[in-house]
Amino acid sequence: MYSVRKVTQDMYWVGASDRRLALFENIYPIPRGVSYNSYLILDEKTVLLDTVDRSVSAQFLENLAYALDGRPLDYLVVNHMEPDHCATIEEVLLRYPEIKLVGNAKTFTMMKQFFTFDVDAHAVTVKEGDTLCVGKHTLSFVMIPMVHWPECMVTYDACDKVLFSADAFGTFGALSGNIFADEVDFERDWLDDARRYLVNIVGKYGTQILTALKKAATLDIAVICPLHGPIWRDNLGWFIDKYQTWASYTPEEHRVLILYATIYGDTQSAVNALAGKLAEAGERNIAMYDVSVTDPSYLLAEAFRCDRIVFACPTYNAGIFPKMETLLCELGAHNFQRRKAAVIENGTWAISSGKLIRAKLEAMKEVQVFDQTLTVKSSLKEDQLSSLDAIVAFLTE
Ligand code: FEO
Repeated sequence: MYSVRKVTQDMYWVGASDRRLALFENIYPIPRGVSYNSYLILDEKTVLLDTVDRSVSAQFLENLAYALDGRPLDYLVVNHMEPDHCATIEEVLLRYPEIKLVGNAKTFTMMKQFFTFDVDAHAVTVKEGDTLCVGKHTLSFVMIPMVHWPECMVTYDACDKVLFSADAFGTFGALSGNIFADEVDFERDWLDDARRYLVNIVGKYGTQILTALKKAATLDIAVICPLHGPIWRDNLGWFIDKYQTWASYTPEEHRVLILYATIYGDTQSAVNALAGKLAEAGERNIAMYDVSVTDPSYLLAEAFRCDRIVFACPTYNAGIFPKMETLLCELGAHNFQRRKAAVIENGTWAISSGKLIRAKLEAMKEVQVFDQTLTVKSSLKEDQLSSLDAIVAFLTE
C-alpha cells in the first residue's frame, strides 16, 4: 500500500523507511532504522527529487505511481549519487522512459560509473545558479561539494521557499508517519541520532559544511527537505545552529566525557574514582563509556558534544588498547579539534599507551592535553589520588 504525505500545496514526500538494516553504510549501527526521502513536485511538469535505497524501492515506486496518478514523470533531479539515494534511478527510468535526469557534470560522471544505461540520452547538465522552470515552480541549483560527496548539490524552490538539502540536515532514524520535525519531539528523540549522523558521515568536512551554510544563508528558506529524517518547516534556526556548532568543531555542551578501555577492570576503577571526584567538584554533566562496549560512532558523536575528554587506557601489545586506538583514529580522521584532554595510562610492565595517546592528541588541532599523564601500574593506589585531583583541577579550571 502507498504511504505518501503532502509537504506543501503541490509537493509530496514519496520516500520510505528501513527498520531491518543493521548497519548504515555497513558500518554505523542504526537501531532506530533510517528513512530515504524522495519528493515529488506536481506542476505543469512533474519533478522527482532523488530516489531511494534499493531496499525500499518497492514502497517508493508504489508511492510515486500513486502520487503521479497517471501523469508522466518529466524530471528526476539527482542531488546526490550515493547509492542510498541513486540505486533506484534505473528502476524509475524503466517505468518512465521519457524522463530527463537533472544533475551536474560530476553527477553524470558518477552515474556512468554506477550504471550502464545511456545516461547522455537523458542528461540535463546544470551548474551553480542554473534554473529549471517547471511551471509555477522554478528550481535553482547550488553546489555543496563534499557534503557529502564531490558531486553533491541542493535544489531550491523559490516558489514555496523549499530547500531540498540532500544529505545536509539529515538524521538516522526511520519515519513513523510523522515526517515533520515539528510533529515529533526532535530534541528528545532525534537530536542524538542527528548529531551521530552528521559527525560520522560528514564530520571530516566541517569547512565545506560551513561554506554550504553560508550559501544557504543567502536563500529565503521556509522548509528544509533532507534525504534522511524529518522535514523542517518550523524552528529552522535551532537546527541550523546545531550544524554550525558541529561543523566548526565547537563543543555543544559543558560536559566531561570519560572514555576508557579496561581489560580486567582496573582502569575502570581508576576512572570511577576520577568521576566521583569530578562530581564532588561540582560537575553535573559527566558521561562515561567503555570503548569496548559502545560503538565508535556513538563515541565520536559524544566527543563532538563535550568540551573536555579523559582518555584512560591500558597498554596492549606495547601499544594502545585496540578499541581505544580505533577511536583515536576515528577522531583524527574526522578532524576532531578544539578540546581539553587528559590521559590516564595503565600497564603491568613497559607502559606506553599514555605517550602514544598523547602523540595522537597533540597531532589534532587545538587540543590542549594536560601535561601530567597519570600512570597506573596495574591498579590505582591511595597515594595517586592527588594525581586525580590534579586532573580534576585541570578540567574544571
Ligand atoms: Fe544519504 Fe551520502 O548519502
